[in-house]
Amino acid sequence: MKIVNFEETLAILPIEKTIAVMKACFADFEQGKISQTPRVVQVLPDGDQQNLFAMMPAYLGPDRVFGSKVITAFPKNAGTEYQSHMGQVMLFDSQHGQPVALIDANAITYIRTAAVTGLGTDFLAKKEAQDLALIGAGQQSHSHLAAMLAVRPIKTVHVFDLNAEQVARSIQRMQVAYPAVTFIAANSVQEAVADADIICTLTPSKQAFLEKGWVKPGAHINAIGTFTPTTREITSDLMVASRLFVDDYQAANNESGDYLIPLAEQVITKDHLQGSLGELVTKQVQGRQNETEITIFDAVGLAVEDLCCAEYVYQLVKEG
Ligand SMILES: NC(=O)c1ccc[n+]([C@@H]2O[C@H](COP(=O)([O-])OP(=O)(O)OC[C@H]3O[C@@H](n4cnc5c(N)ncnc54)[C@H](O)[C@@H]3O)[C@@H](O)[C@H]2O)c1
Repeated sequence: MKIVNFEETLAILPIEKTIAVMKACFADFEQGKISQTPRVVQVLPDGDQQNLFAMMPAYLGPDRVFGSKVITAFPKNAGTEYQSHMGQVMLFDSQHGQPVALIDANAITYIRTAAVTGLGTDFLAKKEAQDLALIGAGQQSHSHLAAMLAVRPIKTVHVFDLNAEQVARSIQRMQVAYPAVTFIAANSVQEAVADADIICTLTPSKQAFLEKGWVKPGAHINAIGTFTPTTREITSDLMVASRLFVDDYQAANNESGDYLIPLAEQVITKDHLQGSLGELVTKQVQGRQNETEITIFDAVGLAVEDLCCAEYVYQLVKEG
């Protein structure tokens, strides 16, 4: 049994490589070569904390591995010595059902989420996108910055978070990692997104906060932060005005408040959904069509992403 910790996992998964692993994962998923079971999310009965405990199983085929990510999401850990997501991805070999590895789930979640966003962005953002807004300056903002830089020539990054100290800490760290990029602390979401070609929303917000009138024509939005039917980041007006893509139809239908709330309000129909990432990767649907449309990539996160990344880490560790 291989046990791979946070640092070891990230050392094996640089962002460009992880984007390539995710591209193969979504092609396999679209072609039915790999599969997953809808995740089980338990909202812990811990009063108004509403912390989450989730199990995310997937199967990668007879000659590969299967297993589950088992993870907690405790949003109030943000800014403390504890990460807001912690757990393990447990892998079993598909031939005998033997447990073969435990891979740090926080590292997998950190990097695979951003890699999937990078992949989606590559199909949907304008080629020359240079201005990025990060809303939510937590852990995901760092991997998302790396992913956006991997797929577009980003020069300026505006950062907003409800916690201004968190913005200052994050910018300090990002500036060291990317000295050629200009980082600007924003005082509001509106200020952060005013010039943005790409917007990443990376918050556990319960209410929509990104307004249609604030987003410039041609912008691409990655709505990544929320993944329950009752939470969202994108207002209904903005959703109506945008072309929507998701990581997976079934997952969006079960979990995406950004999609399900305007659907329940009857301001969009199911036809509003233009395609999934698997359909983009396998060229069944077209991504961006012109320079003025607003596109949204709404991802709730899939077990196949975790398993494909964890399998990649396990293979490299096994080979020594
Ligand atoms: N879709 C996916 O696959 C996926 C994967 C991982 C994490 N997530 C979600 O993405 C979000 C970010 O993850 P993280 O690990 O960076 O979390 P984190 O806890 O490290 O950071 C979240 C940050 O968002 C800020 N915030 C909260 N509400 C806000 C608001 N309304 N406006 C601006 N800032 C706000 C908090 O102050 C905090 O700094 C979380 O909600 C997480 O559950 C989604």
